[in-house]
Amino acid sequence: DGDVFKYYSEGEWKKSSSGKSVAIINPTTRKTQYKVQACSQQEVNKVMEVSKAAQKLWAKTPLWKRAELLHKAAAILKEQKGPIAECLVKEIAKPAKDAVTEVVRSGDLVSYTAEEGVRILGEGKFLMSDSFPGNERTKYCLTSKIPLGVVLAIPPFNYPVNLAVSKIAPALIAGNSIVLKPPTQGAVAALHMVHCFHLAGFPKGLISCVTGKGSEIGDFLTMHPGVNCISFTGGDTGIAISKKAGMVPLQMELGGKDACIVLEDADLDLVAVNIIKGGFSYSGQRCTAVKVVLVMESVAEALVEKVKAKVAKLTVGPPEDNSDITPVVSESSANFIEGLVIDAKQKGATFCQEYKREGNLIWPLLLDHVRPDMRIAWEEPFGPVLPVIRINSIEEGIHHCNASNFGLQGCVFTKDINKAILISDAMETGTVQINSAPARGPDHFPFQGIKDSGIGSQGITNSINMMVKVKSTVINLP
Ligand code: G3H
Repeated sequence: DGDVFKYYSEGEWKKSSSGKSVAIINPTTRKTQYKVQACSQQEVNKVMEVSKAAQKLWAKTPLWKRAELLHKAAAILKEQKGPIAECLVKEIAKPAKDAVTEVVRSGDLVSYTAEEGVRILGEGKFLMSDSFPGNERTKYCLTSKIPLGVVLAIPPFNYPVNLAVSKIAPALIAGNSIVLKPPTQGAVAALHMVHCFHLAGFPKGLISCVTGKGSEIGDFLTMHPGVNCISFTGGDTGIAISKKAGMVPLQMELGGKDACIVLEDADLDLVAVNIIKGGFSYSGQRCTAVKVVLVMESVAEALVEKVKAKVAKLTVGPPEDNSDITPVVSESSANFIEGLVIDAKQKGATFCQEYKREGNLIWPLLLDHVRPDMRIAWEEPFGPVLPVIRINSIEEGIHHCNASNFGLQGCVFTKDINKAILISDAMETGTVQINSAPARGPDHFPFQGIKDSGIGSQGITNSINMMVKVKSTVINLP
C-alpha cells in the first residue's frame, strides 16, 4: 500500500509484514492525514539484532568520522526544514513558524553535539595508585568513555523531531546505535528526519525507526533484552517504563507543573509577557510550560489585568495560519482539559474569558482565584488553560510548588536577587528561572526533573555522558 509510510531498518525503508497500519489523525481536520506501518514484534527483534551488530563496528569508527557524519545530517536536516515542518503542522498542529524553528533548532543541536562529543569523548583520565593509603606508585589507571550499546529513543508528540535528535545525536557520537520509536502523532516528521540521517550516509543498521501501536510493541521494546539504555520523554508512561525496564540506564523527562512565583516588587509587564509565552506557546503543550501562577495578593489584580489584555490578543485557529493557539493534539486531550475546566467551574474559579471549544481547538483561558481543592491546581492540562492562585506569603508559594508530585522547572519574578536565590534554593525543581519563563533551552544547558518529572539530566553534555560508561585499564608495574 503506497499510502503507508515505511519504517526504517537495515538502512532500508520497509513495509511491515503485519500488513497493518496506524492512522495519524490531523488534530485540526480530525481526519486521517497519514498512515505508518504497524511493526510486529518479529520486526522489532530483527531491528535489535541488526542494531547490536552495527553498533560494534560503529564503536570502532574514529570519533572525528562519527562527528563528520553528524554534521552532514545536521546540514541535510536544515535543508529539509520545509517539508519536515509541514508534517509537524499536519500531524501535531504546531504553528507553521514554530515547526520550522523546531527543525532548525534540531540541526543546530546535532552539530553542537558532534562538536561537544569530539571534545568530551576525546579525553580520559590518568590516575596513580599512591594517593590511596597503603599503595605504592605502581598502578597506573587509564580511563576512557565507551558506548553503552543499543539506545532506545522514545520522544513525545510535542517535539517529534527535536526531542528525537536530542537522544539520537548524543547516542551516535558516543558510539551507540539507535532504535527510535517515534510518537504516533509526529511519526511522519520523525521518519523524514531519519531520512536525513540516511542521506548523510550512516552505516546500515546503526539507526532504525520502528512505528506501530504502543500496545503491540511498546512494552516489547522497552523490556527487550537487546536494549542497553532508554531515553524517554513523555508522560506517565515513563513511570511505567521505569518500573518494567531491566538494569539499564534510564533518562526520563516526564511531566511538569511549573510554577511561576510572582513577588510584590516584580516587573509586572515582564511577568505578563512571560506568562503568555510560558503558558500559551504551542497551546500549553510543553512540559516546561508555566502551569500555575502563584502571585502575591497585593499585585494579583494588576497582573491578571495585564495577562487578560494579552490573552485577548492571542490568535486562535489553524496552525497553517500561524495562529498562536491551535487545536490540541487529540480529542482525548481536549476532553481531559475540559474536565479540568469543568471541575474548576464547579468549585468556583473565576473565568477571565469565556470557555470555548470547537473540536480539538480550545480558546485560551485564564482561571483566577484557583484554590488547592481544584484539580487544575495540581494536574497538568497540557493545553491553553492557566490557573492563577493568589498567595499571601512567599512561603505559601514555595509550599504549593513543593507539594506537587512534579519537580521539573519553576520561575520566580522579583527585582531582589537575594530573595530570588533563596526561593530558587527552596524550590524542589530541576531548574529555577529567575525573571523568565521556564524553558529547556539553550540546549546545552542541563535539563532535569526531580520526583515524577524524571530521572537523570539532559542537555547536550549530560546526555553524551549518560550514554557512555567508564572503562578503566590498570597498568601494574613490578
Ligand atoms: O515538552 C518538553 C520539552 O522538553 C520542552 O522544551 O522548553 O524547549 O519547549 P522547551
